[in-house]
Amino acid sequence: MDKETLKKAAAEAALAYVPKGCVLGVGTGSTTAYFIRGLKRGWIVGAVPSSKETERALRKRGIRVLDLDQAKRVTLYVDGADEADAKLRLIKGGGGALTREKIVATAAKKFICIADGAKLVKRLGKHPVPLEIVPMARARVAAEIRRSGGRPVWRKGFVTDNGGEILDVHGLKISNPAKMEKNLEAIPGVICAGIFGQRRADLLLLATPQGIRRIRAG
Ligand code: A5P
Repeated sequence: MDKETLKKAAAEAALAYVPKGCVLGVGTGSTTAYFIRGLKRGWIVGAVPSSKETERALRKRGIRVLDLDQAKRVTLYVDGADEADAKLRLIKGGGGALTREKIVATAAKKFICIADGAKLVKRLGKHPVPLEIVPMARARVAAEIRRSGGRPVWRKGFVTDNGGEILDVHGLKISNPAKMEKNLEAIPGVICAGIFGQRRADLLLLATPQGIRRIRAG
């Protein structure tokens, strides 16, 4: 089975969890794009996007777009991931939308993560950890990361929806994802680290050639 078929299968499995009349938070990326394509117009009250790209896709689909202040509650957040472990901790931000993704995921009552089964890992960290940073702090953040054993690579020319830049950090030894997340986010100039160790997913829907594998929190 090819990757795209698996991503589509994970996205379609998530559609069954969307309650009628809810406010939905919607992530960013190719797996989430399949999810948006499957959303039925009129089923939900509106959606809070995690990026400009997702906002455009929702509008194209005829879905009402809400910002976080308008949406009094976000019932469910659905998004992909670059890596996930069995405790539902994630690495996200391959598409550079990590900050808004973390904000909407944290605001949501429930977070369903959808992915191709190959994204499940024993230990997070094979995929580099994206950091959104304030551009003027790039060299200082990079030096701090090097001191703690990581190898930061600047995503040159990439500007986030918030006007930030991205450093992809390779080689981090992530034994405690929540602690690593807090430490990275404590570096002045770091806006957000792409580790979702504190706000993990509540349900992981992994598409495998044998079918959908569900992993629940707890
Ligand atoms: C976007 O910034 C990311 O967090 C994506 O959710 C993640 O990179 C997964 O993307 P794909 O669904 O395209 O693999």
